[in-house]
Amino acid sequence: MSDMRRLAVYIVHYRLHVIGALAATLIVTAVNLAVPKYTGGLVDELIATRSFVVLNRAAFVVLILFGLRSLMMYAQIYLTFYLSHRVTADLRQDLFARIQQWSLDRFAVWQAGDAITRSLQDTQVVQVQLLAGSVDAISTGLMVGGIVVMLVWIDWQLALAMALVIPLVGGMARRVGHEIQGTTVRAQEHVAGLAGLIREAFSGARVIRAFAREDREIGRFQTQNEQSFRANVRISRMVALQIPMVSFLTALGLVVVLWLGGQRVTAGHLTPGLLVAFLAYVGFAVEPAVSLTRHYAGLRQAMGAFGRIRMLLDEPSELREDPAAVALPSIIGRVTFDDVSFAYAPGRWALRDLSLEVRPGERVALVGLSGAGKTTLVNLVARFYDPAEGRVEIDGRDLRQVTLRSLRSQIGLVPQETVLFAGTIRDNIAYARPDASMEEVINAAKAGNAHDFIAALPMGYDTMLGDDGLQMSGGQRQRLAIARALLNDPRLLIFDEATSALDSESEALIQEALDRITRGRTTFIIAHRLSTIRGANRIVVLDQGQVVEDGRHDELVALNGTYARLLRLQWLDAAPAEGAPAPAGPPV
Ligand SMILES: Nc1ncnc2c1ncn2[C@@H]1O[C@H](COP(=O)(O)OP(=O)(O)O)[C@@H](O)[C@H]1O
Ligand SMILES: [Mg+2]
Repeated sequence: MSDMRRLAVYIVHYRLHVIGALAATLIVTAVNLAVPKYTGGLVDELIATRSFVVLNRAAFVVLILFGLRSLMMYAQIYLTFYLSHRVTADLRQDLFARIQQWSLDRFAVWQAGDAITRSLQDTQVVQVQLLAGSVDAISTGLMVGGIVVMLVWIDWQLALAMALVIPLVGGMARRVGHEIQGTTVRAQEHVAGLAGLIREAFSGARVIRAFAREDREIGRFQTQNEQSFRANVRISRMVALQIPMVSFLTALGLVVVLWLGGQRVTAGHLTPGLLVAFLAYVGFAVEPAVSLTRHYAGLRQAMGAFGRIRMLLDEPSELREDPAAVALPSIIGRVTFDDVSFAYAPGRWALRDLSLEVRPGERVALVGLSGAGKTTLVNLVARFYDPAEGRVEIDGRDLRQVTLRSLRSQIGLVPQETVLFAGTIRDNIAYARPDASMEEVINAAKAGNAHDFIAALPMGYDTMLGDDGLQMSGGQRQRLAIARALLNDPRLLIFDEATSALDSESEALIQEALDRITRGRTTFIIAHRLSTIRGANRIVVLDQGQVVEDGRHDELVALNGTYARLLRLQWLDAAPAEGAPAPAGPPV
């Protein structure tokens, strides 16, 4: 039950609400329990006295009691729902904050659809079944317990006869509850699968159309959808079974009471008024007993859901900030790899004993076959991961000793795939610093060769981007990405195949921007274009996670090694600007 303890942490913040709801519940239950016994005694008193005074007094008391009960019900229901929605909102907030703190490797482990289901749907199950449900469950539990006490009080022998029915109801509730929980877990997994397929229908729309695989996608969706349907029908069948079975068992109990109780009244062991009260209590027990079984099933369902939420909450992040970490001072630009090894999966080295020293302001081109470790190397510079062995340093400081924020805010990263967020062009360029001045934004756009095309748009920098905004070409997106990376005027720039997938005109514009903005800044450029690579001060050739060659273009050609072979294989494209025909880009 450590899940319960974990959830309690969230609830404890609102303990006044909990206490209020419980107090109200207690009063409501007490009134519910008192009324039948009171009216039962009244019937006997009326038979004996035939007094209107007694009747009037009783009517007044019952009215007051029910008035009080209504007031307390309002408090109970309102506080319960407030609590449940509040805790659910807190849970969701924590889940999202956790995901924002994940190191990047976590995103390979988790599917977005799965995380969405856990954050939205599972939290809702917890809200309805556990948080709102539990006060209800406590109140019905109290009610059922109280009814048992009242039954024993009125006539324990008759109550004993009733007790035979209770294990039947309890046993059935357990079995059905187990079944419902197991099936719910499966149903939720299918929904997560559906979410993933819908997302792919959007993100992969072009590819799906291009390869004419619509039918396959529809088929995959149908398989998941049908499995989800079957699981839900199974749950419905269990729920449908629960209620009629319980009410039939209760009817059985009532008949037993009537039959046995009638005999006891005739024999003089029980007054008629108390038999009426006894019957009223048994009738009263029907609804709580039914909802108690439902609560039991709901509670199990909610614990399953919370278990899934917890897995997401507790997902370990490999990358931790040292509590003693200090802010990295303004970067000068020396980057050192000292005997660095790194593996995404144990034993499969992406970088192996790699040492590299990059001087401030140096422009380094990283070259190598796909999978050689180029992206991994620059990932370590931005500390998306920590090396398994060795150290990565900037200006002589181990990256593990500086704060992530101070490090990353001084690095400009332009990835191959440009991510634009819903918002204006200005918002997207100023993503790193929303309070940047318009002048800073325009300067960054000019440096990235993006200003001219932005200024030509009717809305200029206020043009909306995103799902229902302007769609831009690859080259335009890439230039926005460069402007975004330049906003903070970083001393250290990283371009990861930023120009690989562009047409020649965009390529020329970006190349011109690159030559200009990388001057005086330490730069890592991962590229296949010969024009880009030639412009570098230094070419570092990677193969299977190791530096195999390091030098200038002419030197490496003369060496006639890996670099020369990549050139011959046209792995390194001659840029169109140099008059050579542009071969198809290499696979990435
Ligand atoms: N997120 C990841 N999880 C597991 N393995 C990865 C991941 N990213 C890269 N790799 C592996 O690490 C090696 C180096 O990859 P990478 O640095 O992306 O190469 P490059 O950028 O040179 O193409 C490859 O063997 C690749 O399969
Ligand atoms: Mg790469």
